[in-house]
Amino acid sequence: MTTEASSWTPSSWRALPAAQQPDWPDQGALDDVLKRLSTRPPLVFAGEVRQLTSTLAEVAAGKAFLLQAGDCAESFEDFTADVIRDKLKVILQMAVVLTYGAGVPVVKMGRIAGQFAKPRSSATEVVDGVVIPAYRGDMVNDMTADASSRIPDPGRLQRAYDQSASTLNLLRAFTKGGFADLNQVHTWNQEFVATSAEGQRYERIAAGIERALRFMAACGIDLSSEATLHQVDFWTSHEALILGYEEALTRQDSLTGLWYDCSAHLVWIGDRTRQHDGAHLEFFRGINNPIGVKLGPTSTPDEVLELCERLNPDRIPGRLSLITRLGADRVEELLPPLIRAVRDSGHPVLWVCDPMHGNTFVSAGGRKTRHLDRVLAEIGAFFRAHRAEGTWPGGVHVELTGDDVTECLGGAEEVLDSQLDLRYLTACDPRLNGRQSLDLAYRVAELLRGG
Ligand code: PEP
Ligand code: CO
Repeated sequence: MTTEASSWTPSSWRALPAAQQPDWPDQGALDDVLKRLSTRPPLVFAGEVRQLTSTLAEVAAGKAFLLQAGDCAESFEDFTADVIRDKLKVILQMAVVLTYGAGVPVVKMGRIAGQFAKPRSSATEVVDGVVIPAYRGDMVNDMTADASSRIPDPGRLQRAYDQSASTLNLLRAFTKGGFADLNQVHTWNQEFVATSAEGQRYERIAAGIERALRFMAACGIDLSSEATLHQVDFWTSHEALILGYEEALTRQDSLTGLWYDCSAHLVWIGDRTRQHDGAHLEFFRGINNPIGVKLGPTSTPDEVLELCERLNPDRIPGRLSLITRLGADRVEELLPPLIRAVRDSGHPVLWVCDPMHGNTFVSAGGRKTRHLDRVLAEIGAFFRAHRAEGTWPGGVHVELTGDDVTECLGGAEEVLDSQLDLRYLTACDPRLNGRQSLDLAYRVAELLRGG
């Protein structure tokens, strides 16, 4: 925020310990890339980012709901128009289910156009008896499990920037150029979804929306002039993990003199990098974007209050989202004390539930997976806790893809343990497929209605 109190610069984080940074082998090559990136056009501009802060302030105040969704990790390989379009389709579908089912405006945000860096619980892994560096996301190294593929390559920062720019360009075209028009509500239902129970239920909602649009037109309402029916605001977000990259894209707004990280509209701090004396907190305190912090099961009320004070000392509504990922088994015990502490302090936070990261386990066949029942259980407990404390359960943060993958278990069209190998394609954590994502949206719509 405006940081007269202690001097902040886009590089002041460099004086502090930065967790989860790659061991770049060639500092000169890294510096060259970062220098070049610092002269490239920003991906988003300050005015948009400020608009998102006001939008999230509405969400924090209980007037709207945030749907933040996308890959665990975007990939350089899996980069086509169809992949981007299908991810957008499933998010638009979920937003329709939530808006229609609960009558609440939905703010749509992707984990997209920049979600390329991963924190890891271990810096190395053992493959066939050999210790190699862990995969840290396509922005850093290659997933292929051999030592040379895992050497961090700064050229990948440039490639992540380029892919983010193209992705964002297509998203802007889709969301402003007719694809996200509410009259297209049927076309967002992909075939593998449409033939399922979840997809048919969606068809009925889509038919209802079409009827409503026809009804309004028949009443003489000029729908063509209603921009909100034909375009959507779609925001980008990612975990701002690799601080050199984020610094290179941080720019001073010529209108206000304030600093913005122009790599995305919203950036968040992961559960592994939220140390109070760490470099991530230092970097984040000075950028004026809306920001998130992931809160895992080790978060204490005191720590969370300290985060609020450090990251939002001016108590700007919409500035700070707290994204809890506590695990279905522990949320009931761990969440209420956090909510009470923040509520009683008067900090205007937006509470978001990440029901994915606290519910990962290894299947009998050795696949990292999640069961949709546990994911829904965490969301249910999140809603109950907020309802009990009188706070607004403001959003969900989920890992999903438009593809027909078999990475998470369960759902109305159940994915079984024995099927995980069929289409397990994620670059990192297991994602919900299109049908499971709709299942989740129906459940959240029920919870929003108070069911
Ligand atoms: C993630 O969002 O992919 C992630 C690593 O989350 P967390 O920081 O909550 O573990
Ligand atoms: Co993940």
